[in-house]
Amino acid sequence: MNYNNTNIANTKVVLEIKDLHKSFGDKHVLNGFNMLLHQGENLVIMGKSGSGKSVMIKCLVGLMEADSGTISVMQNDITKLNQEALDILRADIGFLFQGSALYDSMTVRENLEFPLRRHIKKFNKTVDTEKLVIEALENVGLVSAINLMPDELSGGMKRRVALARTLILQPKIILYDEPTSGLDPITAKEIIILMQEVQKKYNTSSLIITHDVDCARVISDRMILLIDGIDYAVGTFKELSTSQDPKVKAFFKQ
Ligand SMILES: Nc1ncnc2c1ncn2[C@@H]1O[C@H](COP(=O)(O)OP(=O)(O)OP(=O)(O)O)[C@@H](O)[C@H]1O
Ligand SMILES: [Mg+2]
Repeated sequence: MNYNNTNIANTKVVLEIKDLHKSFGDKHVLNGFNMLLHQGENLVIMGKSGSGKSVMIKCLVGLMEADSGTISVMQNDITKLNQEALDILRADIGFLFQGSALYDSMTVRENLEFPLRRHIKKFNKTVDTEKLVIEALENVGLVSAINLMPDELSGGMKRRVALARTLILQPKIILYDEPTSGLDPITAKEIIILMQEVQKKYNTSSLIITHDVDCARVISDRMILLIDGIDYAVGTFKELSTSQDPKVKAFFKQ
């Protein structure tokens, strides 16, 4: 792999995917995909619609089983872990779904309490739920929305609440699937700034799937282009956006 940023190359690897294969019948989606995510890094994955980005992330969080290849989270091969060990590891990974996926019948407060109850083992029994909910909402500037229902929120506010719900579990790694899609450019920029603030405050490592070239430019330390089922091109935004490879060039022309 190609590193300009030697600081990152020297830090701990928190996620590693090696030679990942996944097919549906005779449709080969992933054909040997590789990826490394370092501590504190913002890694952006770009690829055409249907190239397999969501399939890759689903294999990573265990929603889908790969045909072959290895996936390691904090140096643990997840295919070799039992359920309990896997659950502990999962509590360290926050997943911000495309859309937001808030529970429509719950208030903002209840939406944030929900993952806390699910992963209660991660916290001791005396955890002050109220304090954690307020702190998570403070991080996204939305304490005032605590008693609102999701349909009373704008698209950008929903995305913020979803980010707060991810942050409340204090994840070490955050996976973002299209964090700015469907938002106007100004709101998209606000979400990107929030993502950067979170990264700085908690030193989280982030994997960001996006179609948004502006988002990639601003946030990425490194990028991977997923083309033909593999990590076709790896490098900084500058390296990839000035590449002469026709398949890579096609991305930045849009
Ligand atoms: N459960 C499934 N069964 C069969 N085919 C699937 C399944 N899930 C995904 N696919 C196929 O795998 C390919 C990759 O899908 P994927 O959702 O990963 O694309 P993507 O890169 O996330 O695209 P987008 O940018 O539109 O979100 C598609 O051709 C899709 O039809
Ligand atoms: Mg997708």
